[in-house]
Amino acid sequence: MNLFDAIEKRRSVRKYLNEPVARAVIDKAIEAALLAPNSSNLQPWEFYWVTHPEKKKQLVAACLDQATAATAAELVVFVARTDTWRRNRQRILETLGQRGTVPKQQRDYYLKIVPLFYTPGWFSSLGLLKSAVFAVVGLFRPVPRGPFSKSGLRATLSKTVALACENFMLAITAQGYSTCPMEGFDESRVKKILGLGGAANVVMVISVGREDAAGIYGTRLRLDPKLFVFEV
Ligand SMILES: Cc1cc2nc3c(=O)[nH]c(=O)nc-3n(C[C@H](O)[C@H](O)[C@H](O)COP(=O)(O)O)c2cc1C
Repeated sequence: MNLFDAIEKRRSVRKYLNEPVARAVIDKAIEAALLAPNSSNLQPWEFYWVTHPEKKKQLVAACLDQATAATAAELVVFVARTDTWRRNRQRILETLGQRGTVPKQQRDYYLKIVPLFYTPGWFSSLGLLKSAVFAVVGLFRPVPRGPFSKSGLRATLSKTVALACENFMLAITAQGYSTCPMEGFDESRVKKILGLGGAANVVMVISVGREDAAGIYGTRLRLDPKLFVFEV
């Protein structure tokens, strides 16, 4: 299946057949997820493939008992982390160092620029200050307008994790299985099941399985592209 076939074929499936999905299928899709483009290459994601029967049962309940979760062979939780950037930055610099000399510009980027946007401070207090400074400088030249707050950072990281989700879903589709992304879940409960703290944000839970024909709700519906596509 080529990429365009997979994009066409992917549908959100709300009911699966009672059939297992081989471990290799999920492994391959997770590999694809890890190749997604991501903000500053800081890879702020975590993927929790929930295979423990009791945890899986709890996760289905936390997904509001949606049929797509209840009938899924597998469930994977996609998480964005606001706290792993220091560790990952360190490992990136070490890896680059092993490959050769790290250009000063790249080192400065990770050591000076990245912290500007990844440290909003208590109640986004530092962020408020930075946002005021950038607003003033921005009167005279183009400047980044964030993320400065905790919620802004969460939005930034969610973009990255959503791209990983799409890679994952297309990779599952390309292997002949189906998925459904879910944001209909109780985040507090999902985090409790996974033992996650405040620095983790659950972006999506994705169900995986062999599609039941009754699991596709109607012909695909997209509105007129003229509503969304502009050439300016
Ligand atoms: C971020 C996100 C969250 C979603 N949450 C749910 C969900 O909780 N339950 C569900 O059945 N579908 C969910 N969907 C699937 C959408 O309803 C679906 O993608 C949309 O109706 C278009 O249909 P298609 O995916 O078959 O093209 C979600 C999709 C996205 C992107």
